[in-house]
Amino acid sequence: MRTDKRKIALVGTGMVGMSYAYCLLNQGVCDELVLIDINRKRAEGEAMDLNHGLAFSTSHMKIYAGEYRDCSDADIVAICAGVAQKSGETRLDLLKRNASVFQSIVQPVTESGFNGIFLVATNPVDIMTRITYSLSGFNPKRVLGSGTALDTARLRYLLGESLRVDPRNVHAYVMGEHGDSEFVPWSQAMIATKPILSLCNEDDDMVCREELMRIEDEVRGAAYRIIEAKQATYYGIGMALTRITRAILGDENSVFTVSAMLRGEYGQTEVYAGVPCIINKNGIQRVLSLSLSEEEKKQFQKSCDTLRESFEGIL
Ligand code: 2OP
Repeated sequence: MRTDKRKIALVGTGMVGMSYAYCLLNQGVCDELVLIDINRKRAEGEAMDLNHGLAFSTSHMKIYAGEYRDCSDADIVAICAGVAQKSGETRLDLLKRNASVFQSIVQPVTESGFNGIFLVATNPVDIMTRITYSLSGFNPKRVLGSGTALDTARLRYLLGESLRVDPRNVHAYVMGEHGDSEFVPWSQAMIATKPILSLCNEDDDMVCREELMRIEDEVRGAAYRIIEAKQATYYGIGMALTRITRAILGDENSVFTVSAMLRGEYGQTEVYAGVPCIINKNGIQRVLSLSLSEEEKKQFQKSCDTLRESFEGIL
């Protein structure tokens, strides 16, 4: 039974999970945080470490290591468990290993009586979110993944740098798979309400378009570059998860490119993919259907096909 207190259960206390937890604590996002890990000792150590920081924090969060039964009254169960991507691996390479990890997570969470929102971060996130949906039997509005939320943040940062505009005034999205087939629908990219492609026409068109392609490639390759340099990525995704969590707990109706089940939007069904969605206390309130160009529709179709094919036969 959910109560007035804002409670998050985090499954998986690796670097991604703990970056999320650390960010939740620093931003005082919830009242209670339970850490669940196959390695109970690790979860206990992480809970101790965070609790020792409470005296320096403005937050009064209750943090403890727990069990799946502790999910019963949580508002959100965030899943960050699973094997991480190594140098040279794609996110899809992780699929088989992480699918079997999820079999042992989703069932005990649902058996606890949990009736909140699943927020999935484990890669390949679109497929892991779909697996969570299938295993839980929840309404797809209440099962979402971090999707391309971080890629979109990377895009806005890089566009902001290149165009010398505050990233908060850059409205552009990365859509599709959180992975190699993701793409930027440039026809929908704006600075304030001015289309970015129209800026290209004003300047040197070719140079401008090349710069946009360079930025898109940089976004697509960002995780590979970070993994090559420091073996893993975690702060960015931890912050993205925290921001989505705030939108849910605060009933914000904010827009993020999360991984959502498509039921006819963009002509797609039976696939979870990164699309702009309105997020509130119900989870995905609505998937926003952007007016993609014909070329962008093809790119999205291709990305969704990749995701559908990868999901085939997994469960
Ligand atoms: C990231 O994009 C690896 O999916 C992770 O940072």
